[in-house]
Amino acid sequence: MYKIDKINAREILDSRGNPTVEVEIIAKKNGIFGGRKIKAWSSVPSGASTGDFEAVELRDGGERFGGKGVLKAVENIEKKITPEILGMDVLDLQRIEKKMLELDGTENKSNLGANAILAVSMAVTRLGAIAQGQKLYQYIADLAKTPRQDLGVPGPYFNIINGGRHAGNKIAFQEFMISPNLGNFSDDYRAGAEIYHKLKAKIKKELGGAGTLLGDEGGFAPDNFQRAEEALDFIMASIADAGYEGKVDIALDVAASEFFENGKYNLGFKMENDDWKTSDEMVRYYLDLIEKYPIKSIEDPFDQSDFEAFAKIKAEAEKKGVQIVADDLTVTNPERIKKAIENKSANALLLKLNQIGSIGESIEAFKLAKSDGWKVMVSHRSGETTDDFIADFAVGVGAEQIKSGAPARGERVCKYNRLLTIEKNLKS
Ligand code: PGA
Ligand code: ZN
Repeated sequence: MYKIDKINAREILDSRGNPTVEVEIIAKKNGIFGGRKIKAWSSVPSGASTGDFEAVELRDGGERFGGKGVLKAVENIEKKITPEILGMDVLDLQRIEKKMLELDGTENKSNLGANAILAVSMAVTRLGAIAQGQKLYQYIADLAKTPRQDLGVPGPYFNIINGGRHAGNKIAFQEFMISPNLGNFSDDYRAGAEIYHKLKAKIKKELGGAGTLLGDEGGFAPDNFQRAEEALDFIMASIADAGYEGKVDIALDVAASEFFENGKYNLGFKMENDDWKTSDEMVRYYLDLIEKYPIKSIEDPFDQSDFEAFAKIKAEAEKKGVQIVADDLTVTNPERIKKAIENKSANALLLKLNQIGSIGESIEAFKLAKSDGWKVMVSHRSGETTDDFIADFAVGVGAEQIKSGAPARGERVCKYNRLLTIEKNLKS
C-alpha cells in the first residue's frame, strides 16, 4: 500500500500568464520492504468565459498579479488539506475527496478553492494509477467502471478561429471548431493541422499577416471578420484547399452568456454598433447557419440561465442531427445537469474538471449525462497548462468527444499528442 507522504504545492503561470496551482504528491510504500516512493504531479486550468455557477477558483485579490494570485489556494493545500490526508492510501480517492469536501464545507468549494481541491484530486488519481501499475486512462476506466471494450479515442474538435472573450477581434461567437471524420484519431489530427495551415495561408493572403495573430486557444483571430458567416466561409474554403471536403464537421461554441443583457443577445458587443437579437431571432439565425454549413454541434447557444431557450433550439436542432452542448448552463454540476435533463435543454455535456473541482464528481456528472443518452465532450479551459490529464480522463470515462483548442501551441497539443500515444496503446 502506498500512503501519502508529502505534498508540495506551488503557484505557477498558465498559458495566459495568470497564476494557477500546481502540486506534486509523494507516496511511500509501507511494510518490511518499505521506503519505495512514487510521485505524481498535476496542475489546474482556468477559464475566461467562466459560468456563474462554476465551483469557485480561489484568487488572492490585492495587488499581486492584478489580484489573480493563488497563494491562498496553495496555502490551503499545505496547511489544511495536507495534515488531513497524510498517511491515506493513494487508492482511496473517494475517501480523500470526501475529506476535502468536508473540510471545505461549502456548496461551491469557495472555502478551500476548487483549484486547490482539484489539483490534489488529479495528482492522487495519477498516484493510484502508478500504484496499480496501470496507465492513467485504464485506472480512470476502473474508477468509472467503463467496460474495457468501450475504451476508444474520442473525436477531436479543433478550435481554429477564436472570437468572443478569447480574442481582441470583433466576432461575437467564441469558437469555430472543425471535427474531421476520417475514422481514427491520428488521421483526424493530421487533417486538423493541415486545415489549420491552409486557413493560415488563406488569411495571410486575403487579409494580411496581422490576420494570423492568435486567440487564447491557438485559433486565428482576424480583426476583419464581423459575422460568423465570414469565419465559416474561410473555414469551408480551407477544408476544400486541404482536400477534405465532405469529411469535416463544423462545431460552434457561441458562449452566449458573454453577450446577453436584459433578455437579449448583442452580436455587436465587440463592435462599434450594437446588434441586438431576441431569443427567437437567435433560434432562426442558428437554424439558418445549420442550413448553410455542415454544423453538427452548437455549444451554449443561449444564456447560462435560459433552460427554456436551450430546449427550443434543442428540439429543432435534434431533428437535423445537430447536437446542443451545455457548458455554462450545466457547469459539470450534477444538480444543474439534472435540471437540464428535466427541461430537455441539451443532448450533450461539456465536461470541464475545474467547473466542479474533483474527479469523483466529474465522473458522476458524466454518468448522469449518459443516463439520458447525452454525448459528452471533455474540455480544456482557455487558460491551460501542459498537464495532459484530460486526454486520459476522456478515454477512461468513455467520452465520445474532446476539445483542446487548436492543433497548435504547447498547452493545447500536449492533450492531443497524448491521445496519439493512447490510440497506439489501445491498438496493441
Ligand atoms: P473558457 O472557455 O475556458 O474561457 O470558459 C471554454 C469554453 O467556453 O468552452
Ligand atoms: Zn463553452
